[in-house]
Amino acid sequence: MQNFEFYSPARLIFGKGTENTIGQTLKPHAKKVLLHYGGGSIKKSGLYDRVVASLNEAGVEFVELGGVKPNPRLALAQEGIELCKRENVDLILAVGGGSVIDSAKCIAMGVYYDGNVWDMYETGKAIEKALPVAIILTIPAAGSEASGDTVITNEEKALKYGYGSAKLRPLISVMNPELFYTLPKNQVANGVTDMMSHVFERYFTNTTHVELTDGLCETVLRTIMHNAPKVLKNAEDYNAWSEIGFAGTVAHNGLVGCGREQDWGCHNMEHELSAIYDVAHGAGLAVLTPAWMEYVWKDNVGMFVQFATKVMGVDGSYRQPEDIIMEGIDKLRAFFRSIGQPTTLSELGIGEDRLEEMARKATHECFGQEHPIGGLKKLYWQDVLAIYQLAR
Ligand code: NZQ
Ligand code: ZN
Repeated sequence: MQNFEFYSPARLIFGKGTENTIGQTLKPHAKKVLLHYGGGSIKKSGLYDRVVASLNEAGVEFVELGGVKPNPRLALAQEGIELCKRENVDLILAVGGGSVIDSAKCIAMGVYYDGNVWDMYETGKAIEKALPVAIILTIPAAGSEASGDTVITNEEKALKYGYGSAKLRPLISVMNPELFYTLPKNQVANGVTDMMSHVFERYFTNTTHVELTDGLCETVLRTIMHNAPKVLKNAEDYNAWSEIGFAGTVAHNGLVGCGREQDWGCHNMEHELSAIYDVAHGAGLAVLTPAWMEYVWKDNVGMFVQFATKVMGVDGSYRQPEDIIMEGIDKLRAFFRSIGQPTTLSELGIGEDRLEEMARKATHECFGQEHPIGGLKKLYWQDVLAIYQLAR
């Protein structure tokens, strides 16, 4: 096990009705709030009205900025930064999913930065300060409700970059699984795939003597795969949504990655798809993850046998490790298909023409100095290209 530090201070408020007292929850922390949200799902569901009523009742002033798109754009966050400065906002309330939360975090740090907030995504430079961010989560997926990360798309440059800082950990995250009932099936699938990927990125490692976190990862993955079909069948299955919602947070709050070298190859490769083709993050991951497994398994056969048997339930008796591993990967692909995900790039409408460009971008090869991605196996641009080609 590697040395590690675990600090995950976001206060999680879980359960039925918890969003209805958001005004009281925020009152000790804020005089004026930026209410930040997406393209309208919260208005359709009535959540917007309940949040506004609760803020008013508690006497918490607010200004608002809606319109965050999936793959959130830098330009809107820049608008939010100016609005927060002008209105002396002292807390951002993000009501939505990963895109709204990430946009909120971008605004939160931009308010205290004199230059262009994109600098942080491009250079990774440390921030001194950020506004506190509170969240009402409407889709279990990105885990941004528990992470210090933000991922933003710079449309002008066709780049999607992440940035992380302990200063961006949310102050409070409210999760009522009932809010997930209105999710369209494809967003359910995207969310489930993303949270599984957050576990995979930590699970697949060359670090040994990490039995505890191996087991935590495996339990989180099995819990997600057990409950996803239930919510797809019955959108109002509160108990199944509770399992998935909590799993999504645990998948990305850092716990299951403690003491392990992490990978993040699939996420890096996927961000290129989202940046250029605006595909949903979860859908891109469903396509790339099995292809990545097929490309890298020989570098750690034991890890992949463990995955196939303990996560995918492959019976390993009397067989060659390769057969066990291939069956595990096939079962994962079949699971993704069963929840409605694409499993090839062509299903995402992605042809061959820009694969090499994306491979060179993913490893920064085209920006001067190549930084191979991945932990279990270091991937150079030629490897990334080979994985994109396997995923076609
Ligand atoms: O915009 P609205 O109208 O609200 O609709 C949204 C959006 O179209 C809809 N939706 C959300 N809750 C709903 C709902 N529709 C009906 N009922 C509800 N209850 O779902 C759509 C997708 O929303 P989005 O926020 O984009 O989804 P998600 O949570 O999957 O976030 C994806 C983003 O998070 C980033 C991804 O790259 C992507 O940009 N990630 C952020 C991470 C982080 N900050 O730690 C880590 C992840 O790896 C990921 O990269
Ligand atoms: Zn993700």
